[in-house]
Amino acid sequence: MHQSFLVLLLLIQTFIAIQATPLFREYIGAEGNNVTFSEVPINPNVDFHFILSFAIDYTDSRPPRPTNGDFRVAWDDINLNVSQISLIKKRHPNVKFAMSLAGDTIYKSFVQFDPLSISSWVQNAEYSITRIVKEYDLDGIDIDYEHFNYTDSNTFAECIGGLLSNLKQKRIISFASIAPYDDVSVQPFYLALWNKYGHLIDYVNFQFYAYPKMKSSALFLQYFETQSLNYKGGKIIVSFGTDGSGGLSPDDGFFDACKVLNDQGKFYGIFIWSADDSKKAGFLYEKKSQDFLATLLK
Ligand SMILES: *[C@@H]1O[C@H](CO)[C@@H](O)[C@H](O)[C@H]1NC(C)=O
Ligand SMILES: *[C@@H]1O[C@H](CO)[C@@H](O)[C@H](O)[C@H]1NC(C)=O
Ligand SMILES: *[C@@H]1O[C@H](CO)[C@@H](O)[C@H](O)[C@H]1NC(C)=O
Repeated sequence: MHQSFLVLLLLIQTFIAIQATPLFREYIGAEGNNVTFSEVPINPNVDFHFILSFAIDYTDSRPPRPTNGDFRVAWDDINLNVSQISLIKKRHPNVKFAMSLAGDTIYKSFVQFDPLSISSWVQNAEYSITRIVKEYDLDGIDIDYEHFNYTDSNTFAECIGGLLSNLKQKRIISFASIAPYDDVSVQPFYLALWNKYGHLIDYVNFQFYAYPKMKSSALFLQYFETQSLNYKGGKIIVSFGTDGSGGLSPDDGFFDACKVLNDQGKFYGIFIWSADDSKKAGFLYEKKSQDFLATLLK
């Protein structure tokens, strides 16, 4: 009796695992080279997320000044605009849009997480993000703060946790991700957030390309194990960069590592940084990645 119940549960789990459509995500819009959505190849058999890069809580002045959670669009919104998002959504029902908060730098200075207080930051962020999400018809957000000079990890966790909780409760967004990388000045913030508010985070866009360049899938898998212990129970999305940064390239065994993870039931999808960088090579790896993901369905 007990055993047959377990077998049934296992069968249901396997069925769900097979049914889950693989996810492809890509950052776009940070580098001012006029990349457009319609240039990027989209395979109809994967779930596809464009992640607009970035929205920032900084002024547009020189030097830029922090605005305590009052976000504005800083991606290339001349090309990546409201009408293009609407057009892509009509043409490709498998595509959703997110915006990423913060990023590394603006006008060559760091984008710092710099709240005046938890409650005022959350209130300002919720208000400004809601406005942008509605204007652009976005579906989710990604958290990519990389500099925390002015604050502590608990404040970060409470601000982001409070924001995600409000946005999800009010159904402003349907998914959220975080984009940590393995650095002592970054991970403690995301781990504090994960440990308290992990239930609000759908995907961990782990920046594997922030590791030094590697030539073996074995080392990549070792890093993956470390991070899956950190973000326990999280859907870790594996990644590479097309900007010549570090990590494991598709030419050096990235897809082999994906296959191993898939066989182990630990594979949830691929993301790329970034469409802007991929433009000059004609989005070769975007196509390869989605072809790879689509074969997992067969
Ligand atoms: C992007 O497009 C604008 C307007 O057409 C142009 O002025 C600019 O030089 C372009 N930038 C790049 C990097 O192609
Ligand atoms: C929106 O972006 C497209 C390119 O992606 C461009 O051709 C078009 O002119 C833009 N529309 C507006 C209103 O800026
Ligand atoms: C903190 O930020 C200030 C102002 O941007 C900068 O001068 C300082 O070097 C930063 N400190 C660290 C540890 O990054």
